[in-house]
Amino acid sequence: MAAITHLFVYSFFFSLFRISIAQDSITPTQSIRDGGTTLVSAGRSFQMGFFSPGNSKSRYVGIWYTVSSDTVVWVANREASLSDHSGVLKLADDGVLVLLNSTNGTVWSSNTSTTPQNPVAQLLDTGNLVVKDGNNDDPEKFLWQSFDYPCDTLLPEMKLGWNLVTGLERFLSSWKSTEDPAQGENSVRIDLCKTPSFVELKLKQFCVATCQ
Ligand SMILES: *[C@@H]1O[C@H](CO)[C@@H](O)[C@H](O)[C@H]1NC(C)=O
Ligand SMILES: *[C@@H]1O[C@H](CO)[C@@H](O)[C@H](O)[C@H]1NC(C)=O
Ligand SMILES: *[C@@H]1O[C@H](CO)[C@@H](O)[C@H](O)[C@H]1NC(C)=O
Repeated sequence: MAAITHLFVYSFFFSLFRISIAQDSITPTQSIRDGGTTLVSAGRSFQMGFFSPGNSKSRYVGIWYTVSSDTVVWVANREASLSDHSGVLKLADDGVLVLLNSTNGTVWSSNTSTTPQNPVAQLLDTGNLVVKDGNNDDPEKFLWQSFDYPCDTLLPEMKLGWNLVTGLERFLSSWKSTEDPAQGENSVRIDLCKTPSFVELKLKQFCVATCQ
C-alpha cells in the first residue's frame, strides 16, 4: 500500500514537474508571468522568462543558457523595460507575441504578415524563439523568429546580413551597459556593397564578404 502511495505521489509530482516547469511552448490560452514559470527548450539548452540585468530593478523578457542564467543571449523588450514585476507575455490569436504591463499596455510585440490557424510560440534548442502555425516546423514557414532580431549574441544557426526578399537586416549590437540591454554604440553589420556576392553570414559556415 505504502509503495503504491509512493508511486502515486512520485508520478503525480513527476507529471506536475513536466507540465509546469519543462514547457517549451505557449499557445494563445497560456501566458508567461513574471515570477511564474519559464519556457525551457526541449533539450534544456535554453530558457526564456523575465529577468533583471545586474543590479538593475528593470524587468525584461530574455533568453539565457540554462547552465548560466547570467548569460542572456536575447532580449525582447530591450528598448522598453518594465518597472515592476507585473509583466505578462502572451501569444495573441493572430500569432503576435505581446508583452503587457500592469495596465495591459503593450510594451513590446512581435509581428507577422500571415494569420495562423493554430499559433504556437516555441523556444527551440538552438535558442531561437519562433512563432509557427500548429506543428509546422519548416523554418521557411515560421511566422516570426527571434533569430531575425539579434541582440549582442551570435548563436550557431543564426544568420547575419540582409534578407533581400523581405529587406530585413539582421545585425548584432552591443548592450548600452551590463545593466541596460538597450542598443549600445557598437554593432556588427554586413556591408552590402553595390553588388553583393553573398547575402548571409553563418557562424558555422563562414563566408567572406567580397565586393565586385
Ligand atoms: C488586463 O487583462 C486581463 C485579462 O484580459 C484582465 O483580467 C484584467 O482585469 C486587465 N487589467 C487591467 C488593469 O485592465
Ligand atoms: C503600460 O504601457 C502603456 C503603453 O505602453 C503605457 O501608456 C502605460 O503608461 C503603461 N503603464 C504603466 C503602469 O507603466
Ligand atoms: C516587423 O517589424 C520590423 C521592425 O520591428 C519590420 O522591420 C518588419 O518589416 C516587420 N515585419 C512584418 C511582417 O510586418
